[in-house]
Amino acid sequence: MLNINLNPFPILNTNRLILRRITTEDAQDFFEIRSNKELMAALDKKPFKNMDELLSFLEQIEFGINSNTSIAWAVCLKEDNKMIGHVGYHRIDFTNHRAEIGYALLPQFHNKGLGSEAVKAILDIAFNQFNFHSLEADVNPANNSSIKLITKMGFVKEAHFRENYFYRNTFLDSAIYSLLKKDYLRLQSQ
Ligand SMILES: CC(C)(COP(=O)(O)OP(=O)(O)OC[C@H]1O[C@@H](n2cnc3c(N)ncnc32)[C@H](O)[C@@H]1OP(=O)(O)O)[C@@H](O)C(=O)NCCC(=O)NCCS
Repeated sequence: MLNINLNPFPILNTNRLILRRITTEDAQDFFEIRSNKELMAALDKKPFKNMDELLSFLEQIEFGINSNTSIAWAVCLKEDNKMIGHVGYHRIDFTNHRAEIGYALLPQFHNKGLGSEAVKAILDIAFNQFNFHSLEADVNPANNSSIKLITKMGFVKEAHFRENYFYRNTFLDSAIYSLLKKDYLRLQSQ
């Protein structure tokens, strides 16, 4: 059985980061993230143009947490509690103990090992506490940094969908990577 208990919301600590619930106090930092053109281009999503879009996104995140359908954490630097990105699971599938993971950091924080630290934290809790059987990632095959990060964590490519995602007047391919709990635990014990 999936065992997702979000009350109290799980706060995750890594060496340099705290992963915690996103609140309205993060609105300005969160807007900086979701309006960043480079970051949003990597997600193949339109950057937010105003705070209303951000606040309604924040409401969707709260709804996801309250209905156990998705979970998002703010990725914050321990040194100043600034939100520099977000990670989480969407489309939680209780029947199959599976979810899709997402992760994004502001570009100025890339290539410092912070993405790996944050993703590892949500893999650890996914498999050790929530009891997911598997996780998947849906990646643009051209997104090398994302593919590098998840393959380093043990994800393997399982599918390639041709032109199944319509964005900015183009049909884009998607690659699906996945990680089984047993493979993750084996890799972590090596
Ligand atoms: C994908 C993403 C989260 C990766 O985050 P990141 O913080 O840059 O990833 P990391 O720093 O952990 O790993 C990148 C490199 O930094 C290196 N690194 C690790 N620790 C480091 C450290 N302490 N200092 C410097 N570099 C380090 C790693 O070796 C890694 O390089 P390698 O893969 O060649 O070994 C980030 O590029 C991102 O937010 N992209 C935009 C959003 C996105 O694409 N999301 C995924 C959609 S599917």
